[in-house]
Amino acid sequence: MNLLAVETSCDETAAAILDGERRILGSVVLSQDEVHAPYRGVVPELASRQHLKSIGWVVEECLNRAGLTLPRIDAFAVTQGPGLIGSLLVGLSFVKGLAYFFRKPLIGIDHLEAHMEAAFLERPGLSFPCLALVVSGGHTSLFFLKKRFLYKLIGRTRDDAAGEALDKVAKFLDLGYPGGPVIQKLAENGNGKNFRFSPTRMKDDSLDFSFSGLKSAALKKIRETGMSKSHPGLADFLAAFEEAIARAVLDHFARAAEIYKPHSLVISGGVARNKRLRTRFLDFAREQGLDAFVPSPPLCTDNAVMVGSLAVEKLKAARTKSGTLDLDAYPRFNP
Ligand code: KG4
Ligand code: ZN
Repeated sequence: MNLLAVETSCDETAAAILDGERRILGSVVLSQDEVHAPYRGVVPELASRQHLKSIGWVVEECLNRAGLTLPRIDAFAVTQGPGLIGSLLVGLSFVKGLAYFFRKPLIGIDHLEAHMEAAFLERPGLSFPCLALVVSGGHTSLFFLKKRFLYKLIGRTRDDAAGEALDKVAKFLDLGYPGGPVIQKLAENGNGKNFRFSPTRMKDDSLDFSFSGLKSAALKKIRETGMSKSHPGLADFLAAFEEAIARAVLDHFARAAEIYKPHSLVISGGVARNKRLRTRFLDFAREQGLDAFVPSPPLCTDNAVMVGSLAVEKLKAARTKSGTLDLDAYPRFNP
């Protein structure tokens, strides 16, 4: 079986082809960073227009890399949501057209479940129950997975996502877009102990996150210290900010682990590319005696491999209403 998957939930136009064993036959990710960089954030209207321009080329290039043609695709999959509605509709409509024309099954995939799937694709033996955090530019959502396909949302951000906080601090300091990778590079040799950020916690002891307090604290410190691109303390400041994000993540894992007693921990999503967070997370899991996994960096940021992998698994487990052309897109999480 060859399955073609498409992902257009935010600002990456991506396609991938996987076989029935989830081997990757081709994968293309076309980033729109250059389009959004002048605005230092994703402009939804521009994102959907850019997807419309790129989608045909991205799918064709993916087929070329896999050495396949469309008639040899046996099933299609596409991200249904959550995401930017205009962006989602481009991918969804395009793939619906293909599935309709070739009379092949079409599987709708949840974007957050796909981010978690990246871990199960690269580490099939991960044990359950599992706590998985999707930490990206649009989401910071913590899930409890009792077993494969059976998961529940146990905490999410009430304001900014972690990646959004990184992007906004980078924007404020005029460091470039997207903020996460730029901050990581500049913070590489910084000492995170030279600046202090107090932890933010929900008053009601819930497992929800809040990053807007941390972001405001960072902006306040920038003003107070005269922090700038050329300030000698920039690396230390950014390292401390990364440390604060890692601490917030680990604090949530620690509290959730007490309640849910997991066997394994996962982080995925764009911010899970962050080296400092990866190191802190893996050290934490080792101290707790828990199995832990972070997908390889290209599978952390948006891609279509994770979408295709989940679709293949769902098809095999007969966990999908395949063949439906009435799939709709949804902007918010919809478990
Ligand atoms: O998963 P993703 O590609 O898209 C969403 O679903 O949101 O994540 C994009 C986010 C951006 O906020 C970007 O700044 C952040 O991931 N990011 C990073 C790194 N690479 C990307 N954050 C921290 N460190 C990185 N190396
Ligand atoms: Zn994503």
